[in-house]
Amino acid sequence: MNENEKCKKIYITTPIYYVNDVPHIGHAYTTIIADSLARYSRLAGMEVFFLTGTDEHGQKIEQAAKARGKSPQEYATEISNRFKQLWDDFEISYDKFIRTTDPDHIKGVQKAFEIMVEKGDIYKDVYRGHYCVSCETFFTDTQLIDEEFCPECGRSTTMVEEESYFFRLSKYQDKLLEWYESRPDCILPKAKRNEVINFVKSGLNDLSITRTSFDWGIKLPESMHDPKHVIYVWLDALMNYITALGYGTDEKLMDYWPAKVHLIGKDILRFHAIYWPAFLMSLDLELPHHVAAHGWWTRNGEKMSKSKGNVVDPKEIADAYGLENFRYFMLREVPFGQDGDFSQRALIDRINSDLGNDLGNLLNRIIGMSGKYFDFHIESDDVAKYHEEELLEVKAILSNVEPFLYEIQTNRYLEELWKTLRIANKAIDKAMPWVKMKEGKEDEAMATIALVANILAKVSVLLHPVMPKTTQTIASALGFEVNNDSYNRLIKEEELLGEFTIEKVPPLFPRIEEPLVETPGQKAEAKSKSELKAKEEKNSASREKSNKTAENGDNLITIDRFFEVKLKVGSVMEAQEVPKSKKLLKLQVDLGEEKPRQIVAGIKEWYAPEDLIGTQVCVVANLKPAKLMGMLSEGMLLAAKDDEGLCLIRPEKPKKPGTPIG
Ligand code: MSP
Repeated sequence: MNENEKCKKIYITTPIYYVNDVPHIGHAYTTIIADSLARYSRLAGMEVFFLTGTDEHGQKIEQAAKARGKSPQEYATEISNRFKQLWDDFEISYDKFIRTTDPDHIKGVQKAFEIMVEKGDIYKDVYRGHYCVSCETFFTDTQLIDEEFCPECGRSTTMVEEESYFFRLSKYQDKLLEWYESRPDCILPKAKRNEVINFVKSGLNDLSITRTSFDWGIKLPESMHDPKHVIYVWLDALMNYITALGYGTDEKLMDYWPAKVHLIGKDILRFHAIYWPAFLMSLDLELPHHVAAHGWWTRNGEKMSKSKGNVVDPKEIADAYGLENFRYFMLREVPFGQDGDFSQRALIDRINSDLGNDLGNLLNRIIGMSGKYFDFHIESDDVAKYHEEELLEVKAILSNVEPFLYEIQTNRYLEELWKTLRIANKAIDKAMPWVKMKEGKEDEAMATIALVANILAKVSVLLHPVMPKTTQTIASALGFEVNNDSYNRLIKEEELLGEFTIEKVPPLFPRIEEPLVETPGQKAEAKSKSELKAKEEKNSASREKSNKTAENGDNLITIDRFFEVKLKVGSVMEAQEVPKSKKLLKLQVDLGEEKPRQIVAGIKEWYAPEDLIGTQVCVVANLKPAKLMGMLSEGMLLAAKDDEGLCLIRPEKPKKPGTPIG
């Protein structure tokens, strides 16, 4: 039994979002990761409390409201509703949406303040330093850039000198270091832990935790008799993680504490990995299991911002490409903790390749074959007999995927699931059920189809947290429903499906050719030709740079990415010239499938048809068929071309048609 099964209750949080601006793709990213984790935990039978909400106090919000001629409360409600509406549109399965203007939260924060005072952790002094309103953070002289600018966001800071209460952060320095030491995975990705340790080791100053120069915040508890102070927005905000469970009011949900994971962006790691555990120590509460910090989503390598006009609206993208496809993309595209550049092209590739080719086509393949050969009937009795090796491989992969999810390596989690889809595809190519049928080996053909159905069933269960509806459609085609029961049977007990009738499904991932959204970013990018030209130059420079750095280890692809391209050995059965074409030859190439593929290749300048017949070639076998001069081409030949001309790439020794290359 692993750690997660032991703790039946599990508490997952997102940051609470500032209401100074509307939601964008970065906010959606954190929330979608958290939602997938919550859904997985529920599926696995845990009691989940999943919290999200909005952070509504502070000078930044006060200023944003003022600029729009609204009261802070009115403005906060308006934007908070936008966030809530988006999460509802995205069917985010939160259990509570907290607002820091909620009366219970306010009471809870005041209660915590009183406890910290009783503990001797708060004292009054004068704060003199620099404040960045945008980051809601204090800085010392030495931290500023050019004596004025915020080291985090680069904006101008203001000099603040005011009476303030301080939290004795310095007192917790050693205890914090002990925590990082004793819990190597308290900060995820683990590499980030060192950054935090170094920061803490360099010495912690006490933290100013109240302000007097503005109003829009939680007042000190009445017992302090000091009404001119409001509580620092980060102390107020961080407390949401416990006030949401009733801390300081009705504490009946406090048995969810400590949080399993606080999901955050890397920019707010310091608040969560230093201030927050120190506050919790002061309150004598347990510390969270993990603080997990993801990277930033950028556009063309630049930070997104309204002024640049390059902000990606998650709703617009999800509406155009499908919410679940978007969810898959976000979790699959970037390794957790790293920055990721958003591009519609990358999203389209994921949809066409991973979802369409690997997942959707696999389902279609077995629907087609079982329909043709067995009237849609599938039974798993002989799977172990004919496909023991594949079953063992799949088991080994799937029984080890869960930790990837809880360590927020969502890309690794999905890559592992896709490995099993590749095993399934390979099993079909190797076993060739259509040949088995011709040879009268029906039970073998059935075993292969059933193996694939079972792999698809298991993948549907484990993919369910990321793509809840799509996987339910696949499961229902395979005669079951994804729920805790099927999770236990197919994943925990490693059972196979019984006998069932497979159902046809409409195409799950229709192919997308062109970007579907003209994002605000694109509009801005296309503003002027000169800007476009500059962009192109920048792109080509960065392409050049990435070509150079590839050998050094930067910009390399993973083996999984490579295997997305299916390369096979093919035997050329026929070759003819294409009338009226100077370049094209039309070939019939045997790839070990039911019938040879027609491939139209631009190689006439270098090869005569008769030189090709009977030779072997290497074929990209999973390219979408295309028409060249009105003729269907179902693959592409590998070739190398330099100044002296073109030559085909061929196997050194003859290989069976269809042999995978890799
Ligand atoms: N209100 C604070 C959090 C308080 S939690 C107790 C805050 N709010 S925020 O709205 O500015 O940011 C919320 C989250 O969105 C942060 O985790 C931040 O890292 C994330 N993102 C904001 N822009 C982002 C991208 N462009 N990409 C990815 N995430 C980024 O900070």
